Amino acid sequence: MEIKLKDLKEQALKEIENIRNSEEWQNIENKYFSRKSGELAKLLKDIKEVSDDLRPKIGAVANEIKNEISKALEQKKQDLNLDIDEDLERDFIDVTLEIEKYKLGHLHPVTQVQTELEDIFKSMGFMVLDGPELESDYYNFEGLNIPTWHPARDMQDTFYIDPKTVNGTENLVMRTQTSSVQVRAMQKHGAPLRVVIPGRCFRNEATDVRHEHTFYQLEGLMIDKNISFTDMCGFLETVAQKLYGEDTKIRLRPKYYPFVEPGVNGEVTCFLCHGKGCKLCKNSGWLEIVGAGMVHPNVLKAGNVDPDKYQGFAFGFGLTRLVMLKYNIDDIRLLQSGDLRFLNQF
Ligand code: PHE
Repeated sequence: MEIKLKDLKEQALKEIENIRNSEEWQNIENKYFSRKSGELAKLLKDIKEVSDDLRPKIGAVANEIKNEISKALEQKKQDLNLDIDEDLERDFIDVTLEIEKYKLGHLHPVTQVQTELEDIFKSMGFMVLDGPELESDYYNFEGLNIPTWHPARDMQDTFYIDPKTVNGTENLVMRTQTSSVQVRAMQKHGAPLRVVIPGRCFRNEATDVRHEHTFYQLEGLMIDKNISFTDMCGFLETVAQKLYGEDTKIRLRPKYYPFVEPGVNGEVTCFLCHGKGCKLCKNSGWLEIVGAGMVHPNVLKAGNVDPDKYQGFAFGFGLTRLVMLKYNIDDIRLLQSGDLRFLNQF
């Protein structure tokens, strides 16, 4: 063992003697001092095998040899004036190594379409507002010209909250439409007004591929002096063209909503077949995407806006419906399912 050690020392010193540059120096240092595969590390392993009585002596010799080699190396470095940056060596990071990339998530398809719409309306001078999902019966129905006895309530059955359970006196409902923010917006900001309100709505539905208890709408309200029905038509056409392209046409047909007069149901030429008729538009060439109308004077009054001075129109896009049309989704329930196999497709 001792002979082996001395041989190692002689070999090392000879090699150190022959070093001419920092690369060679580095190699030799590695060869002897590398923690895993260096010659000295190997030796220390061998020492473990030596019998108990000899081990202290051999250990001491080994230590001495290690110091001598180390000193010789140090000396050589000084003699040749080598510039070796050991920190850099130790901290070296291989930036070319393949690593697992960050997996970025993305916005929900409803949020994506919502942002797209918000951008269109912002470019037309609208502000974007929010409103409560748990809403008073007043803002969701009464203030919108839908008193308790009104049959229109039937079409929008929802989840009613007993005021006693929330320590209040007001009747609360999960809002059935973003129209609930119309009166709030007028009360808060007055006229003239340009506002859109995207948001989540709820209805007590028997769910199937087309009906869901939770869905999204985007409401809009424009109030000013001298606003006419034709302004509304032109406005809706512009929005449709911004959404689906220049050649998009709109078709408005009468529809009853208690909070507008007259009220319309707005359709656009199908963006898939451009009006020729296809599966998406059920061969009609038209897609129903919006409800709209001139704001009813009773609603203006509820919002403290004088109907003799101001008029306006309101519109409500079926945001969930727009998403389903855009991506050809055939079951509305997928959107609320939280199923990543579905969501990762967008
Ligand atoms: N709130 C109506 C609905 O849910 C849509 C609508 C909004 C209609 C604004 C007219 C004006 O069906």
